[in-house]
Formats: sequence, C-alpha cells, structure tokens
Amino acid sequence: MFWNKKSQKDKLFADVSIEQQNMIGDKWSFAAAEAYKMLRTNLAFSFTEENEGHAKVIGITSSLKGEGKSLTSLNLAYTIAETGKKVLLVECDMRLPTMAKRINLTSQIGLSDLLVGVHSGDEVIQKEILIPKLDILPAGSLPPNPAELLESKRMAYTVDYFSQYYDYVLLDLPPVTVVSDALIVSKLTSGMIVVVRQDYVDKSLLAETMRQLKHAQAKVLGFVMNSAQTAHSPYKKYYKKDYGYEAYANHGKDASNG
Ligand SMILES: Nc1ncnc2c1ncn2[C@@H]1O[C@H](COP(=O)(O)OP(=O)(O)OP(=O)(O)O)[C@@H](O)[C@H]1O
Ligand SMILES: [Mg+2]
Repeated sequence: MFWNKKSQKDKLFADVSIEQQNMIGDKWSFAAAEAYKMLRTNLAFSFTEENEGHAKVIGITSSLKGEGKSLTSLNLAYTIAETGKKVLLVECDMRLPTMAKRINLTSQIGLSDLLVGVHSGDEVIQKEILIPKLDILPAGSLPPNPAELLESKRMAYTVDYFSQYYDYVLLDLPPVTVVSDALIVSKLTSGMIVVVRQDYVDKSLLAETMRQLKHAQAKVLGFVMNSAQTAHSPYKKYYKKDYGYEAYANHGKDASNG
C-alpha cells in the first residue's frame, strides 16, 4: 500500500495540541533532531555482535514521573525507524498511559489485553504509525494488577516473540522510584536508558534509581538529559502544578491490595 506520510500524520494528530505535535517525529528543531540521531548512534554502538540476530530490547525509564520517558521513547523509535530498521514501541506503563492520547490512536486495546489473553498481537499492535517501520503497542485497558502482568511468563514470552520480528523493541516504562514495574521489566531487556530531566531530580534520587537498577542487575546503557525547560516554558507549569506523583502512589496501593 502506498504510504502517504502527510495525510497519515494529519489524521493521527487531529485532536492533539500543536505544542505536542511539534515534539514528535520530524517536527523537532534541527538541534533536537540531531540529538535524537546522536542517541540512535550511541545506542547502536552500545551493542556488540552477540546481539546480532535478536532485536535489541531497550527499556526507557527515569527516577520520577514526567521526566520525558514517553517522548524520548517515541522520538527514539521514530529516529531508528527512519533508518529502515523495524521498531516496536511498547507502552509498558499500564497505570497512567499517555501514548495513545499523545498520538491520537483510536483503539483502546493494547498490552494488558494481550497479556490477559483476550486479544492477539495482530489485534493490538498498531502498524506503521507516523512513519513506515514503526509499530506501536499501546498500554490498553487499565488492569488492576500491572506489576503482576509485567512479571508474568506471558510477558517474557511476548517480549521474546517480538524480538524475533523487530530490529528494536523499545519499552516505555514507569519511573523507578515510584513503582517496581521498570525493575521487573528490566530483566527482559538488553539494556536500559535512564531519562534525567535537568533541575527536576536531585542527585540523591538519581543515585537511588541507579542503586535499584543495579540491585535488579539491569544493564544501564546510558542517560538522556532532558532539559528543554526555559523560564517561560509552559512545560514547567505543567509539571509543577498538574502532574503530581499521587496518582502513581495510589495505583501502587491499588495494585498491591488487589
Ligand atoms: N524536552 C522537552 N521539551 C519540552 N517538553 C517536553 C520535553 N520532554 C517532555 N516534555 C513534555 O513533558 C510532558 C511529560 O513528558 P512525557 O510524557 O514524555 O514524560 P514521562 O516521563 O513519560 O511521564 P510519565 O512518568 O507520566 O510517563 C509531555 O507533555 C511532554 O510533551
Ligand atoms: Mg510516560
């Protein structure tokens, strides 16, 4: 089928704010686009020949909420797909998922529905999103037990299965110091990227994140410094005002009780 990049994008972005649209894919400024390409290159050099033949399964996490994991995952996936590699971006944040809304995916089903066995991979994976070669698996229906699902054998099997069909499988994860999900999933990855939003996390929190990743025996490939905040940026207001950590704490309680 002929790929009409422009009309596909316009359709996807119909209800998403212009500010958000300009942060995804080829809408970045030259400097930002170059930074993502550098990340792609550094990532390629992080793997040795022993990974050949298997997808590189990479988890993207951070210390706290809102440091830019999902945006980094999406743009990294896009940048890799631009080179002709087949990429699957999996939204593993089944507590407070944002991916489907961010790029206006219409379907509500995703990873959780796959893991509980009510839908197949073909039904939940959204093909060729934004650019050819980029498939996206959104989080899906909100489950009562996200940590259990991520720790299940079915999750391990699913990631392994995906890794046979894609060159890269990127896992967009929740933050390390808030819930255990990222540490659980780190065991299924070839390596983890830690997004660090400058002037947002302090050193001790980042040290705690690293300690927990080390304890989980995760291989940390490197850090992405996300620091685009300016004095007048609406981004700052958004984080401080509307984006508390309570939601995660509550979800964590729900999960452990349920
Ligand atoms: N470098 C940046 N410049 C401007 N805005 C940014 C940048 N990085 C992230 N944002 C914005 O900050 C918000 C949070 O980003 P994002 O959803 O990627 O964070 P997250 O770490 O995935 O959050 P969560 O922990 O809730 O999953 C989004 O509106 C995103 O567009
Ligand atoms: Mg996110």
